[in-house]
Amino acid sequence: MEDLLEDLDTYPVAESGEVAEQVPVIDVRSLVKDASSADARPAVDAIAAACRDWGFFQVINHGVPEDLITRTWEQTRRFFAQPVEAKEEIIRSRENPWGYFNNELTKNQRDKKEVFDFTTEGRDSIYGAENRWPTVNNGFSETLCEFRDACTELGLTLLDAFCVGLDLPADLMRADFAQDHTGFVRLNYYPVEDPLGASNFAHLPEADLGVHHHSDAGALTVLLQDDVGGLQVFKDDYWHNVVPLPGAFVINTGDMMQVWSNDVYQAAVHRVLAMSQLDRYSIPFFFNPSAATIVEPLSSVVGEHRPPRYAPIQWADYRGKRTDGDYADYGAEVQIAQYRL
Ligand code: OGA
Ligand code: NI
Repeated sequence: MEDLLEDLDTYPVAESGEVAEQVPVIDVRSLVKDASSADARPAVDAIAAACRDWGFFQVINHGVPEDLITRTWEQTRRFFAQPVEAKEEIIRSRENPWGYFNNELTKNQRDKKEVFDFTTEGRDSIYGAENRWPTVNNGFSETLCEFRDACTELGLTLLDAFCVGLDLPADLMRADFAQDHTGFVRLNYYPVEDPLGASNFAHLPEADLGVHHHSDAGALTVLLQDDVGGLQVFKDDYWHNVVPLPGAFVINTGDMMQVWSNDVYQAAVHRVLAMSQLDRYSIPFFFNPSAATIVEPLSSVVGEHRPPRYAPIQWADYRGKRTDGDYADYGAEVQIAQYRL
């Protein structure tokens, strides 16, 4: 399929002056306490506005312990610092997407990064596959699972806020996420040196970005970034830097939230620049519904003057088609625009 967004990388970066806006920073302390309370209303409204205007925001006072964040960074750095042979022992495959990878393709172009993906315990309900953990573990899996669970809690709180912001009961979406969600954590390493520079993959096109522009496929993403910078979101014909804020999580909405909200909330297009001075690390948690969830515009955003803009989508089907796009030989990535009515 012709990629409608292909030209986006030619747009300018908003460096200064009136075009340089910041992604909103939102204090979510009251929300973490009780999303449906009156105290939480200002945070709910700020989130709703950020989702309409940006599809991106940062949260502070999110309740994830600082010490857990520190340990998660330590484990992440240690993992990628291993020799490539050790990492490749747990390389992912088409049948089992969990583990290490260094040839990620977004829109079928090579990205300059390495990743490690893991999900919930046991066999996941989309691929029927289990996490791959390093043999020499040293607390890696334990710390990362603790981090995943903390991000899940934060994700549920944010879903409550999304619902209240759409005039729906706070717990409306919980049924699709609480028990058997298909969320997963990705450790991203963006090295200055191309990880594949000297290897057999040198025939592939040069990796000129850390991650090519894309929207995330699921409901919402909860992301930690280090202090290097390089994440950019596209808004009003400019690329805007998502400036690192120590201790904050970056939140963005994905394709499923765009469908549920019938385009009230946009799944923001974003990218990561290739690193040229300093290695960068980031840790997104992609919060996704259960495999069987049928995603379609919700009652409060559909009416006589606002018909549903999307046909119902089964999450497992969409996710499967997205993952296929990660492998060069299996065709182009599916895009949410293809589901528009
Ligand atoms: C992603 C992504 C952003 C970042 O992995 O989907 O957009 O800052 N990452 O690493
Ligand atoms: Ni992304």
